[in-house]
Amino acid sequence: MNRRIYFVLLGVPGAGKGTQAKLLEKRLGLPQVSTGDIFRHNLNSTTASGLLIKSYMDRGELVPDEVTIRMVEDRLRLPDAAGGAILDGFPRNLVQAEALDRMTAPYGGVSLVPLIHLSDEEAMQRITGRRVCRSCGAVYHVEYNPSRIDGVCDVDGGELYQRDDDKPETVRNRLYVYYKQTSQLIGYYYAKGMLVEIDGRQSIEQVQSELIALLAEKEVAV
Ligand code: AP5
Repeated sequence: MNRRIYFVLLGVPGAGKGTQAKLLEKRLGLPQVSTGDIFRHNLNSTTASGLLIKSYMDRGELVPDEVTIRMVEDRLRLPDAAGGAILDGFPRNLVQAEALDRMTAPYGGVSLVPLIHLSDEEAMQRITGRRVCRSCGAVYHVEYNPSRIDGVCDVDGGELYQRDDDKPETVRNRLYVYYKQTSQLIGYYYAKGMLVEIDGRQSIEQVQSELIALLAEKEVAV
């Protein structure tokens, strides 16, 4: 069997999944596959399907499974995912988790599921202060992880912007959707012996070190 490594990062919106996935990507040489990023980058608001996807995201609702699952299947077939991937924001419900099991079964299945814990209050503070680079997607926080020059990306000088779905009322619905649908995956992966838990209140560097240590301990990568 051609074994591949698939990590699923779980956690409330704002827990730090994207931040950690980008750091792990560099370290492990596996691509970050973020369904949220793929939707945002490929969103064509002039097509009916683009407008439909945007309407779900703007409300903080999940985009329909058939669209999301097909997109991930296509993404995992690309050459840079030949060794596996770091999944960020997928799966988000049991239907998606079962689809991921089917996609990864020929390569040994999902290797590990780190769950990053954070309270709703802290998640809200992190999300409302988040800024993202329009060109390279680097993620900052106005207070916890600011760019050197206000509004300008350190990596490529791109413009930093606030996501449309990072308004407090949309964040509240994203949290509601997380508890109603995505949190079921905690039990799903726990029962499979894949879940490991991390305190997301630590600094970005501390969370990353803990993640690396867990991956090494479980002998999955590193
Ligand atoms: P998505 O883009 O996946 O958003 P999310 O899951 O809500 O997660 P976030 O990106 O908000 O948070 P994060 O955990 O990555 O935190 P980050 O690292 O940025 O999804 C958006 C929408 O797309 C969904 O609502 C849905 O509509 C749709 N969608 C996506 N996937 C889907 C799917 N599978 N099915 C259906 N629909 C889907 O960090 C947050 C902030 O905190 C940043 O400012 C960062 O700098 C800061 N920070 C991070 N870590 C720390 C730390 N340790 N200490 C201090 N600050 C920190």
